[in-house]
Amino acid sequence: MSLLLTGIGLLATQAGPENSESPGEIADAALVIEDGLLAWIGPAAQAPAADSMVDVGGRCVLPGFVDSHAHLVFAGDRAEEFAARMSGTPYSAGGIRSTVAATRAATDEQLGANLARLAAELHAAGVTTFECKSGYGLDVATEQRSVRLAAEQTSEVSFLGAHVVPAGVDRGDYLDLVCGPMLDACAPHARWVDVFCEQGAFDVAESRAVLRAGMAAGLQPRLHANQLTAGGGVALAVELDAASADHCTHLSAADIDALAGSSTVATLLPLVEFSTRSPYPDARGLLDAGATVALATDCNPGSGYSTSMPLAIALAVREMRMTPAEAVRAATAGGAQALRRDDIGRLAVGLRADLVVLDAPSYLHLAYRPGVPLISGVWIGGKAWGLTGDGLTGGGLAGGG
Ligand code: NIG
Ligand code: FE
Repeated sequence: MSLLLTGIGLLATQAGPENSESPGEIADAALVIEDGLLAWIGPAAQAPAADSMVDVGGRCVLPGFVDSHAHLVFAGDRAEEFAARMSGTPYSAGGIRSTVAATRAATDEQLGANLARLAAELHAAGVTTFECKSGYGLDVATEQRSVRLAAEQTSEVSFLGAHVVPAGVDRGDYLDLVCGPMLDACAPHARWVDVFCEQGAFDVAESRAVLRAGMAAGLQPRLHANQLTAGGGVALAVELDAASADHCTHLSAADIDALAGSSTVATLLPLVEFSTRSPYPDARGLLDAGATVALATDCNPGSGYSTSMPLAIALAVREMRMTPAEAVRAATAGGAQALRRDDIGRLAVGLRADLVVLDAPSYLHLAYRPGVPLISGVWIGGKAWGLTGDGLTGGGLAGGG
């Protein structure tokens, strides 16, 4: 069965050259989906026939967002901690431990239901692929069920046993556990190994040991780097050819150069700076130096509890001086690169039919209309997600498109 999506006012494929101002944009476009893949893309006037057709009425179509950083396996929330923070209490890594207690006490059913709810929120926000970390179990049994539950929802699972040292456990003993029995229990369910390389969590030598152990077990490295301090996380990411160095809130000039000269993506998480009232990372410095930048939500109960990739894009534009085109690119093709995936994040023939329809004529509206729910259609692997009828919601474009 083939589907023709036509009436696309602007198709922003992200398939053009990196750093171009108009990344593969086609006006008055159409595309054909067949067997979950993109089978044809071009001007609507030249579109071939298909088994069925949806006219999107002049709306803008983009690749689905790729959220390359999220912590979705947990129980409880930390709304009180957020409120205290807004009154001046600084964010610290230690808050993780209160989520650990709630997560250990939860059943698989409760954790799975919370994860499914957040996955649905992400899809409704236009995310068609997401990464999901463990890291709120911090014992073998709870870390293992965290990665197992995550693997039921996504192929991009990260083992983050090295999130913090749990209360009451000797540091050396915990590192031995993470690099030994916990890794053995979790590696079969994960693709990635992650570590929180930060003051109050793990130092560079400890982080290197955990990542190397994970790599020896067949996992690929990525890490939380330079979130709260300008430590050595970014340099370690580049040293290990990690797919991504995430946060990058405190960067030195040497960090920027190292990222620009590497294939490690700088993944920026502006919803965290927003929710912790912190300075935003130097996206301009990274982009101007030639680094590849991704945007992700980092949805988690502590430092930023939002699934809104559109809001992350708006913040990247307003607060980090990324152009709207750069921000959209970072949330799509950039996220795919941070997951070392070449089948998603762009719209081109042969790639997965993961796409979003905006209730707007252009992706500029993602930043221009912050906080407005503009995602009116989501296709994942060629299937309309969570919607009925023609696969679209919304009353049509203001002014007739
Ligand atoms: O990415 N930095 C480490 N992990 C999360 C926050 C975890 C928490 O506070 O619960 C983050 O910000
Ligand atoms: Fe994180």
